[in-house]
Amino acid sequence: MSTSPKILLVCLGNICRSPMAEGLLRDLAERRGLSITTDSAGTSRNHIGEAPDPRAQAEMRQQGFDIGDLRARQFVSADYERFDLLLAMDGSNLRDMLRLAPSAHLATKARLMLDWSTAMAGSDVPDPWYGGAEGFTHVFRLLEDAINNLLDELEEGR
Ligand code: 4NP
Repeated sequence: MSTSPKILLVCLGNICRSPMAEGLLRDLAERRGLSITTDSAGTSRNHIGEAPDPRAQAEMRQQGFDIGDLRARQFVSADYERFDLLLAMDGSNLRDMLRLAPSAHLATKARLMLDWSTAMAGSDVPDPWYGGAEGFTHVFRLLEDAINNLLDELEEGR
């Protein structure tokens, strides 16, 4: 991977899981002094232009992260050229992303976020949309663990 990797976080709506992941990745990388480029996107077009869900913003704020500046956009095929790593929050997102891959080679950039999880490798980050605040806390914990492991890997490869 390049010295300043470009990483895209992807979920369905781009208003809950992937903006939480983006906020964590950008702030935790900065705290470590790691230079990376981050963005997030949704496979659906339902929430384009929206700020993160208030429940996602509240969970992040409680944990010391501000994601109020982020706005939803839709995942596009060109993202395979623009980013080094495309991280899907769940298997359904990953399948939708793979359908848009311009080539088999570029498709290898798309992976599951929890492939970096300590204890949940290969699992989905559960969609917190229909549940309560505790679902967002669970998402935060899963993401914080996986993103710290990913940052460890990036630091080792630097
Ligand atoms: P996200 O959550 O994919 O983590 O942003 C969702 C947001 C909206 C919907 C579903 C999931 N929705 O059905 O509108």
